[in-house]
Amino acid sequence: MNPENEADDSFTLTDNGTGESWKLPARTGTMGNRLVDIKSLYGTTGLLTYDPGFTSTASCKSDITFIDGEKGILLHRGYSIADLAEKSDFMEVCYLLLYGELPTPEEKNSFNTDIKHHTLIHEQLARFYSGFMRSAHPMAIMVGVVGALSAFYHDSTDITDIEQRRLAAHRLIAKMPTIGACAYKYSLGLPFPTPRNNLSYAENLLQMMFSNPAEDYEILPALSRAVDRLLILHADHEQNASTSTVRLAGSSGANPYACIASGIASLWGPAHGGANEAVLKMLEEIGSVDRIRKYIAKAQDKKDPFRLMGFGHRVYKNYDPRATVMRKSCHEVLSTLGIQDPQLELAMRLEEIALNDDYFIEKKLYPNVDFYSGIIMKAMGFPTSMFTVMFAIGRTVGWISHWKEMLVDDEQKIGRPRQLYSGKKQRRHISLDRRGHTEKKISWSWLWGGGR
Ligand code: ACO
Repeated sequence: MNPENEADDSFTLTDNGTGESWKLPARTGTMGNRLVDIKSLYGTTGLLTYDPGFTSTASCKSDITFIDGEKGILLHRGYSIADLAEKSDFMEVCYLLLYGELPTPEEKNSFNTDIKHHTLIHEQLARFYSGFMRSAHPMAIMVGVVGALSAFYHDSTDITDIEQRRLAAHRLIAKMPTIGACAYKYSLGLPFPTPRNNLSYAENLLQMMFSNPAEDYEILPALSRAVDRLLILHADHEQNASTSTVRLAGSSGANPYACIASGIASLWGPAHGGANEAVLKMLEEIGSVDRIRKYIAKAQDKKDPFRLMGFGHRVYKNYDPRATVMRKSCHEVLSTLGIQDPQLELAMRLEEIALNDDYFIEKKLYPNVDFYSGIIMKAMGFPTSMFTVMFAIGRTVGWISHWKEMLVDDEQKIGRPRQLYSGKKQRRHISLDRRGHTEKKISWSWLWGGGR
């Protein structure tokens, strides 16, 4: 861990009822907000804190990624995302996230070689796919197949062994594109692709997705660069929902494959990684430019659950710096491919209208990375259902880097949040024959929350 200013000042917490007060240490990282260290709060005061969604709570300390949401800054190990996207490739960023420094040419070469030697999947694992419906969502397959890796690679599930941890990390980075491309080919009923070790990570991913044994496939450099950039932009994002899920799963000592499967499950949700797919579904629903105003009004109507997908972010209350890079890449890909797609034109018009709308300006709702990544992937020919899979392939290195960091953090404990209990107080049990009829109309929907 980087040296940190130890408790250099403190806060005083006073109970206005009893007049009792306690000193709580302040902590300051190398950059970013001051924090109140409440680790000892419960032990010394018996008090708990309440923070649904962790909007004000740091769950760990980390050296990996820094975000300043107000200023629109994103740094990995101190390097800006714009520099990394412009000057490095995805393999370098993987190395940086995992090992803390950009690799030397020798280190890069050896890392690349090792990753390439793990790209194939076990034949038995390939048979796993046939248990899924052809119509299964590829993220459902990803959760299952990645989780199943722990049943195949017993030589890398002992988390107390550093070499096994390294092996699992490299394997996961290497196999994710193969597992993802197989999920896609399976849905089409096409043969599974073979990874090609003479290609770069991004080229190989494109090749596995779009080639077939009957034809040659030409990899356009502009597209492989765009895929590489897309992976870089998704590689890590601090303590987001899926990374926190991986850390929480890993905090119990679960094996790395199970932890990454839990991250994939969390990423799937439309408020997180599923947003890029939701963007395209939303564009389909809007349908044409003349209907944009209606949907902007729906997004502003508090009674309407509709939200503009691909807009807003929990942390960035200024522009999403990844979106700036992705927007440029998006325009490059569209012009390279010379695509005239009415849906993409609709997206560009929606972006323009929303960016000039008072509601979105006041609430600081800017297009996020998912808005452009959905458009870019559609232009390249990725089916919508594969968008979140691409995100998962890029984010795997981030998940593993956090998992690796967590395992050696001596302050880390099993994740076990507390709660504000709002249920019934203790009551006496009533036997079945003595329970009276209730006046309330009970239905499953009432029981599942509609009536509560
Ligand atoms: N469309 C319309 N209104 C919105 C949107 C949106 N996309 N996003 C936020 N708002 C409004 C909210 O209604 C709320 O209004 P209020 O203050 O009047 O109540 C205000 O903006 C703040 O929104 P919150 O939901 O409190 O913000 P939060 O930080 O909790 O949510 C989130 C962030 C989940 C990303 C939200 O902006 C959203 O749902 N966006 C659409 C989904 C999306 O694009 N997700 C991808 C995130 S990026 C990623 O995962 C890589």
